Amino acid sequence: MQARLAQAPELALNLFGDESLRDPYGDYKAIRDAGPVVHLRHPDVFAIGRFADVQAALRAPEKLISGKGVGFNDIWNSGGGSNVLQMDGQPHARLRATIMRPLAPAKLREVRLDLKQLIARRIDALIRCNWFNAMTELASFLPVQAVSHLVGLPEAGRERMLTWAATTFNQIGPDVDLDEFGVLAEARSFMSSLSPATVRSGSWTGDLFKAVDSGRLSLAEAMAAISAYVIPSLDTTILSKGHLLYDLAQNPDQWTKLRENPEKIPFAVLEGVRRNAVVRWFSRFAVEDYEVDGALVPKDSRVMLLYGSANRDERRYANPDSFDVDRDARDQLCWGTGTHMCAGMHLARLEMEVMLEALVEADVEVTAGPPTVSLNRGLYGYSELPFRIERRDSVSRARTQDDDKRQSTKMPPVHRADSL
Ligand code: HEM
Repeated sequence: MQARLAQAPELALNLFGDESLRDPYGDYKAIRDAGPVVHLRHPDVFAIGRFADVQAALRAPEKLISGKGVGFNDIWNSGGGSNVLQMDGQPHARLRATIMRPLAPAKLREVRLDLKQLIARRIDALIRCNWFNAMTELASFLPVQAVSHLVGLPEAGRERMLTWAATTFNQIGPDVDLDEFGVLAEARSFMSSLSPATVRSGSWTGDLFKAVDSGRLSLAEAMAAISAYVIPSLDTTILSKGHLLYDLAQNPDQWTKLRENPEKIPFAVLEGVRRNAVVRWFSRFAVEDYEVDGALVPKDSRVMLLYGSANRDERRYANPDSFDVDRDARDQLCWGTGTHMCAGMHLARLEMEVMLEALVEADVEVTAGPPTVSLNRGLYGYSELPFRIERRDSVSRARTQDDDKRQSTKMPPVHRADSL
């Protein structure tokens, strides 16, 4: 096989540098244009950026395995045995089935109305708030208030969950930040302090402990499932909502279309996660020579899969940089595909859909200021997004009275909505 396959070109890009983390799309295009697979030096990986090739790689779990880690440094990658992301074969399938139980669409339908009412009340309060940071005040609301309740963790740990999740994803890169180890140790000690007495009975973690009691699950499996609920479930959905809100505010024609055609909401959600994939990348380890569209990834190499690049591949999507709620983006790869496809994607979709439904029903206009991109090495999203929600009737009144003045007004400082 090796003799017939092309060698991957080498590119001198640093995807983990601040500039690229802030705006990765130029580098992604350079990778796609250079070939189906390129070799990068730091980290020493073969990077795949085109849609069809990322999709195929994710669907080749026997050749490109996860069990040797999906990150870019030895410490991350040695987390193997207890992390569903970094397992293969039967043990992976068994743990995944356990994790998926409360995350199945039928189970989630039971909580849909509650989540919708919660976010609708929050939006109603934010309308009176003028400018606010949409990341902390709106996008985080359901994960922090409701999802952590469903998971069932004690109040004491909840406020730290966002920090633990962000730090874990930040540690995925090639250069480990030793200062952050204290935070990870804190997360580990919190997890190991959990017991049937400290978690909410009837919650996802409560049910896991029940399964341990009845011998259906080992304690190690239960603890692995609990961290699968805590670490990947928060920042991912928060950051995705940030992108969606920004894209809608930046594209008033698309927002109008959505208001007038709420049945397009599920498509808008998929288009949002297509346009900006929050998980930047995971990796795989090639246990045999692997062919990518006529080019070679040699056995024993690490392979970087660029979800965000695949989702902007012009070979797959026309005008991939634009935000278009009429696009059919059902095959987009922000959640991956294949055996490791995101276990929480139905929850993520639900959270985003109820947020958009509540906004549409509130009959509002949305405006955004310039966002600040967080330099997290695993996740692509905003740390701050100035945002404003105004009732449409008050916008049109104000516009007719004082339109020019409004357009030239500088954005006032962002408010916290603690008192709402
Ligand atoms: C928009 C939000 C989300 C995004 C973009 C996202 C992204 C991803 C991606 C790309 C993977 C695939 C990993 C791979 O290919 O190796 C994944 C796996 C996973 N996600 Fe998500 N995720 C999101 C929300 C959630 C939520 C809400 C939960 C939990 C409640 C969750 C739990 C998991 C778990 C447990 C896995 C591992 C599945 C496995 O290895 O079999 N995710 N996610």
